[in-house]
Amino acid sequence: MNLPNYQEAKTRDERSYKRVNFEFDTKIKNKYKGKKFYLKTYGCQMNEHDSENIEALLCNLGFSKVDDYNDADLVLLNTCSIRENAHNKAFGMLGRIKHLKSEKKDLIVGLCGCMAQEASVVDEIMRDYKFVNFVFGTHNMYQLPNILDKAIKENRQEIEVFSREGDLVEGLPVVRANKYKAYVNIIYGCNKFCTYCIVPYTRGKERSRLKEDILKEVDELIQDGYKEITLLGQNVNAYGKDLYDDYTLGNLLEDIAKKDIPRIRFMTSHPWDFTDSMIEVLGKYPNIMPSVHLPVQSGSNRILKLMGRRYTKESYLELFNKIKKTVPNVAISTDIIVGFPGETEEDFQETLDLVETCKYDNAFTFIFSKREGTPACKLKDDVSLEEKEERLQRLNEVVNKYFLENNKKLEGKEVLVLVEGVSEKKKMYFGYSDTNKLINFSSNRDLEVGSIVKVKITSAKTWSLDGEEVE
Ligand code: 5AD
Ligand code: SF4
Repeated sequence: MNLPNYQEAKTRDERSYKRVNFEFDTKIKNKYKGKKFYLKTYGCQMNEHDSENIEALLCNLGFSKVDDYNDADLVLLNTCSIRENAHNKAFGMLGRIKHLKSEKKDLIVGLCGCMAQEASVVDEIMRDYKFVNFVFGTHNMYQLPNILDKAIKENRQEIEVFSREGDLVEGLPVVRANKYKAYVNIIYGCNKFCTYCIVPYTRGKERSRLKEDILKEVDELIQDGYKEITLLGQNVNAYGKDLYDDYTLGNLLEDIAKKDIPRIRFMTSHPWDFTDSMIEVLGKYPNIMPSVHLPVQSGSNRILKLMGRRYTKESYLELFNKIKKTVPNVAISTDIIVGFPGETEEDFQETLDLVETCKYDNAFTFIFSKREGTPACKLKDDVSLEEKEERLQRLNEVVNKYFLENNKKLEGKEVLVLVEGVSEKKKMYFGYSDTNKLINFSSNRDLEVGSIVKVKITSAKTWSLDGEEVE
């Protein structure tokens, strides 16, 4: 048994880690043939991509996937810790599974992902959720087959969580959820330690993959017919810093952009690490999509400082304007937290003012959620939940206004759309534009999913646009 510990999790030192190639334990290959699994994923794209690896590991064990947990022999929850509601959802699901397990004694239940890295969660599982058969963390996902096998063989709760990042494992099998759009991890972990955020504890220190490994994966995806690649990391702009003296995200994007891949995206960017040379690369290559996610979190310098964000409103705006100026037609999206401890009405007004200035194309807005073990958890918080909810609502009204305003500017214009699906009823298609906007459109032809077509926008809504294909 290995239990998580935050003291260890927050250590950042020069300790080196090995790069190892994953090999599936042949003794247990297909051992569970005929058994079915249900995998539920909470949280960000990182977790979604981890689940693509988890699915492949389970398939290698012989399991096949089902969409209803009532039909499953194994239920696995890939969890998220970012806010309390993600936490509560996973525990709610565990409650439902407990019920199922009382009727289905052989059901195997597992929990993994970010919540598994939290000592308090693991304590609770050991104390109150004894029916959970196994738990593993974000740093040892590759051990899933053996942990699961051991939990079944020895018929006891198996908890294997490493507090600190271990080896960087290459070559994990993957079952991708989409045939045309693929996620590619480029960097794991985060060293920023924003005071509200649990990620640096649950995902460990920043570790970049070797550029050769990333480029090889991209080449394979191109060969397999993928049209869009999203480079993933908690802070992709820190790519390479731990590995190279002079190879950054800009260089990586440039190397990928020279390949025969129509669409490249990347997320998430921390404003602190965004360099001029990266911005230039974004402006230079048409296959790097003009869409940047640039979380601001707050428009008040006082709150930004308390959040440990390492920039001011002014330096953020300077960066924002540079990106807007250099990258033609760029759409910038953001994340904003309201109700950070001590946020006053004036601080909040500054956030609203910033949104009025930036007129974001998209924004994810949240109420501050206390995460145990983070510095912000200890700050005095005298703003009531009611007040925070009201601020969120006011903020959403402003951001929504600009979503619509930006979308309206596209009316009458032509945009390129990667076709993702068709609704059979009315021969309507949907897909995303280069700026990552959802487009619903009609066509006179039979379009193939995965093709990129030109669509003329006929009308704009807040969260989507309607259009018709032009040939
Ligand atoms: N409370 C609310 N929102 C949070 N985020 C991260 N931690 C918290 C928290 N404790 C938000 C940030 C981040 C996004 C992924 O989630 O806005 O950019
Ligand atoms: Fe969390 Fe800040 Fe790291 Fe983003 S940059 S994952 S908000 S600590």
